Amino acid sequence: MTANQVREPAIHVQGLEKSYKELHVLRGVEFDVARGSIFALLGSNGAGKTTVVKILSTLLKADGGTASVHGFDVATQAGDVRESISLTGQFAAVDEVLSGRENLVLVARLRHLKDPGQIADDLLARFSLTDAGGRKAATYSGGMRRRLDIAMSLIGNPPIIFLDEPTTGLDPEARIEVWQAVRDLAKNGTTVLLTTQYLDEAEQLADRIAILHQGRIIVNGTLGELKALLPPAKVEYVEKQPTLEDVFLKLVGSNSKNDSNTGADVDAGTAPSDGTTK
Ligand SMILES: Nc1ncnc2c1ncn2[C@@H]1O[C@H](COP(=O)(O)OP(=O)(O)OP(=O)(O)O)[C@@H](O)[C@H]1O
Ligand SMILES: [Mg+2]
Repeated sequence: MTANQVREPAIHVQGLEKSYKELHVLRGVEFDVARGSIFALLGSNGAGKTTVVKILSTLLKADGGTASVHGFDVATQAGDVRESISLTGQFAAVDEVLSGRENLVLVARLRHLKDPGQIADDLLARFSLTDAGGRKAATYSGGMRRRLDIAMSLIGNPPIIFLDEPTTGLDPEARIEVWQAVRDLAKNGTTVLLTTQYLDEAEQLADRIAILHQGRIIVNGTLGELKALLPPAKVEYVEKQPTLEDVFLKLVGSNSKNDSNTGADVDAGTAPSDGTTK
């Protein structure tokens, strides 16, 4: 690794543009991800999260702007980028006919690594899948499958990992299992960029959270910074602290139905829903 790579952020994105024909999905996306941190790209359905991940993992070309990953330009050094990352896509890559262990051995073989069996056993242990390792992945719960998927993407120890909606479709218990696996990754020094539609997931995991909305990053900060963007709540009626969801709705709410009430206090879900003004 060069001195530059040590100083640079793990991921640097500037002015990213992407359209699918008439649909202008990314309109100048900018953010940096610090090495060894967990960064959450938060956005609703169709916001363009997967598009960003595909560009950063070299599966898709941007129309404009620049992005570098691990110090390599995604457009001109795609091969180097691919060697520095792993991608766990929105849809699991697990082969259901094979056992969990066989899935891992297969990927290790494809990557020409020494001792695929040992690599598989180490990862099974790390993701609490040792007992299930010999069973077909088809018999795994959603959380187990997702953990296996993440384990597969770690083979070869990539410094940067992309997780596209790692817990979509999982039950609460399985989500917590996956969250723990993601935290463990970052503890070991891996940089994690994850996308999510869930505010609580970003809140739980991320060192920084960026909200992608209408093609741009509308806010980027730590959880504390995001919360600080809210005006102080009215004390008399508010018992709860504002949630990240309140922050989000406040920020994107300017073009929503309640826009006459621009200085609206966010009172933690107790606002009347019948359009009554205070
Ligand atoms: N290959 C494509 N051709 C045309 N339109 C596309 C293509 N891929 C994505 N889109 C559109 O671009 C927009 C952004 O899609 P993208 O998959 O990046 O969103 P997302 O934030 O990942 O959404 P989700 O949370 O549903 O996964 C959507 O409107 C989608 O329909
Ligand atoms: Mg997506």
